[in-house]
Amino acid sequence: MNKNKIPPRAYLFPMPVALIGANVNGKPNFETLAYVGIVESQPPLISIASYETHYTNIGIKENKTFSVNTPSEDLAEIIDYCGIVSGKEIDKSEVFDIFYGDLKTAPMVSVSPLNLECEVIKTFKIKELVEIEEGHEIFIGQVVNAYADEDYLTEGIPDIAKFKTYTYSLNNYWKVGEKLAPAFEIGKKYKK
Ligand SMILES: Cc1cc2nc3c(=O)[nH]c(=O)nc-3n(C[C@H](O)[C@H](O)[C@H](O)COP(=O)(O)O)c2cc1C
Repeated sequence: MNKNKIPPRAYLFPMPVALIGANVNGKPNFETLAYVGIVESQPPLISIASYETHYTNIGIKENKTFSVNTPSEDLAEIIDYCGIVSGKEIDKSEVFDIFYGDLKTAPMVSVSPLNLECEVIKTFKIKELVEIEEGHEIFIGQVVNAYADEDYLTEGIPDIAKFKTYTYSLNNYWKVGEKLAPAFEIGKKYKK
């Protein structure tokens, strides 16, 4: 081992890419986030970290709802666009064909292979935890409904092999590769 000490940063590779939808002042807005994670499976809870000045945050707080839309390779350009421009300056409400679910206020993207409709159960700002002037705002949402296109399901379950989804790391998008091995399985063979 020849370990170099490198600057401590929140390196976690690869990172997801998620398109977050919220209604702001009655109109849909979308932003691209990589700081997205699962915090509980039952009930299904997802955390998103959206910088506190973002336009999307206004809508999430207004309605206590948001959507998480899974990207596919063919949407890379438009999803990147939603991560470059802000709804504060540019109206992103017409960028996608959308639909609403039971919560009525979380706009979801029709062409996205998988959509999660979330209800906010907790909100806090990172600046409440550490000494910074401005930072991310954390929303924990409970997934109340999930919607998937038939083409992306195998036996009713989302199938990543069919998704053509992609990931993000250090200013680039990366394709998702092939299956490596079955989880909770290959470890059974391990012997020291
Ligand atoms: C690949 C990518 C990942 C991003 N990840 C985050 C993130 O995790 N958190 C965040 O606050 N902003 C992130 N952004 C930036 C926002 O998407 C961007 O500031 C957006 O314009 C905010 O839109 P809004 O002001 O309409 O809400 C990311 C952008 C890109 C392109």
